[in-house]
Amino acid sequence: MPESVLQVERLTKRFGDFTAVREVSFDIAQGEIFGFLGPNGAGKSTTIRMLCGVLAPTAGRASALGRDLFTQADQVRGRMGYMSQKFSLLPDLSVEENLRFFGGLYGLAGSRLDSELEFRLKEMQVLAIRHQLVSGLSTGERQRVSLAASTLHRPEVLFLDEPTSGVDPLRRRQFWDAMKELVREGITILVTTHNLAEADQCDRLAFILGGALRATGRPRDLKEGLGQQVLVLRGDAYRGLRAAAAGMPGVLSAVLQGRSVRLALPAKADPGGILDSLAALGLDFEASEPELPSLEDLFVDLVRLDRKEAA
Ligand SMILES: Nc1ncnc2c1ncn2[C@@H]1O[C@H](COP(=O)(O)OP(=O)(O)OP(=O)(O)O)[C@@H](O)[C@H]1O
Ligand SMILES: [Mg+2]
Repeated sequence: MPESVLQVERLTKRFGDFTAVREVSFDIAQGEIFGFLGPNGAGKSTTIRMLCGVLAPTAGRASALGRDLFTQADQVRGRMGYMSQKFSLLPDLSVEENLRFFGGLYGLAGSRLDSELEFRLKEMQVLAIRHQLVSGLSTGERQRVSLAASTLHRPEVLFLDEPTSGVDPLRRRQFWDAMKELVREGITILVTTHNLAEADQCDRLAFILGGALRATGRPRDLKEGLGQQVLVLRGDAYRGLRAAAAGMPGVLSAVLQGRSVRLALPAKADPGGILDSLAALGLDFEASEPELPSLEDLFVDLVRLDRKEAA
């Protein structure tokens, strides 16, 4: 078993009467990419900010690399890195000047700073823009420079809060490649994202809703845990197909997806009966093979459950 690098126990944050984070507990093992998912305002950034020492927790405990994060923080902060949701580079300085500035904040100087700087410029593919002013960079470039800035001091644990928001699919992939490179160097990463294709690449995920953790596990296990299978039905009469399927016993949900219908059934059900019943209504369609539900299905399901409980 890889050793546990970060342990969080019943971490809680209240702002006045409002509880933004409620008894959140999880563990991250060395070398993992651990993804944090949840709707806007769920408490993801607040949790990370407590772990990075930006915000004092109301209750709970956390330790990283064997040190208590709230009582022995000074012994471990230098081994951690943080790229906040609104990571601000200095716009009037060049890429290199920014990295030198942030390197200095992390206590790097002299030849060590020079060599780390060259290493990260290359690794994050920002070598060609090292002399450009940050104010003129694209979002994707800015995010890669920010990642370089938060890793110059070679942290062992890295917190990335929505590092790829506003980044196009290609640059997003490059950013993930860079993250995986960091993992090969031995870094452990906690990353938040709203992008479920990205989330699928995490080793483990935690869904946070209304400040509380609702599900934690490997992406595949979480999808299997939903206990559903999904089929896509294609046919010209997709609207009629959806309406007919939605009313059938044994159908968990039937939703339009473009010009097709996405049908969710219990994992153990035999789809044959339902498909036969639809065909018997005179509807013409083709059905895909049953698949595991997606993280999006899981996300929607958890949010729906949460609303039902709150109502
Ligand atoms: N300093 C503060 N004072 C009062 N309320 C706060 C404060 N900081 C955060 N909150 C509230 O706590 C809740 C959680 O916010 P948080 O930023 O952690 O959400 P998030 O999951 O990161 O959302 P997003 O996906 O939009 O980034 C929100 O309702 C927010 O308004
Ligand atoms: Mg946030």
